[in-house]
Amino acid sequence: MTNKTDPIGIFDSGIGGLTVAQAIVTQLPKEDIVYFGDTAHMPYGEKSTSAIQAYSVKIADMLLKQHCKLILIACYSATSAAFDLVKEYVGPQAAVMNVIDPMVHHIQLHYANKRLGLIGTRQTVNSNVYKKKIDTLNNGVQLNSLATNLLASAIEEFGDNSVIDSLLAEYLSHHSLKDIEALILACTHYPVVKNKIAQYFNHKITIIDPSYVVAEAVTKRLEDDKLLNNNGSGHKHFYVSDYTESFASGTKIFFDEKINLEHYPLWE
Ligand code: DGL
Repeated sequence: MTNKTDPIGIFDSGIGGLTVAQAIVTQLPKEDIVYFGDTAHMPYGEKSTSAIQAYSVKIADMLLKQHCKLILIACYSATSAAFDLVKEYVGPQAAVMNVIDPMVHHIQLHYANKRLGLIGTRQTVNSNVYKKKIDTLNNGVQLNSLATNLLASAIEEFGDNSVIDSLLAEYLSHHSLKDIEALILACTHYPVVKNKIAQYFNHKITIIDPSYVVAEAVTKRLEDDKLLNNNGSGHKHFYVSDYTESFASGTKIFFDEKINLEHYPLWE
């Protein structure tokens, strides 16, 4: 049985999910947040489906032990590989959400008959989960997906640094992204370099950063389930499976306050 005052659990392979966590905190400042970054196993995008499933279930279990009322898989690779499994594992103990379904709904509402590009990890693109969901909309959206394999790790390491420019130039010049009207950032790390991506396209196309769409979907779900907490303390607790400097500094950039960061190995 969950309660309004229970925290929202958010997980990702590393700092990427902080882009979504930040949007949630902006929209729901009174909610308590428990964030898990699986830095020991990052990058998920290069892992097998079964490995990502094992990590995701283990993290969901940890978040249930923290009494989370809602678990958000804030990672596209984990959503593609493990959403159904995590949902089944969690059952009625908490709501489980992902970062793809809210965007598919957003695309249905705003991008009918458009030619869209999508960039994500190898796992996200090869799983074809995003494309299959878009295709079922049957609303004339043409989606061209491109795996930008090294980008998330480079962002994890360097953040919004100029070394990313050459990587972006290499990936974004791919012919599959020619003549697109908008580009979906289907990796939670990519909003960190959103301005660089917009610059690459000379600000001529829309760069779709799903963070706020996902935060709105979380708000709506909590409202519908009567679990929205408008009077909490907004406490935030961050856990990582391996302590990394980039996560510690990344957290401080996203959340300009004293951070509770704890090492929590998934397997002893
Ligand atoms: N967070 C992952 C995602 O959204 C990207 C980083 C990784 O490969 O672990 O797909």
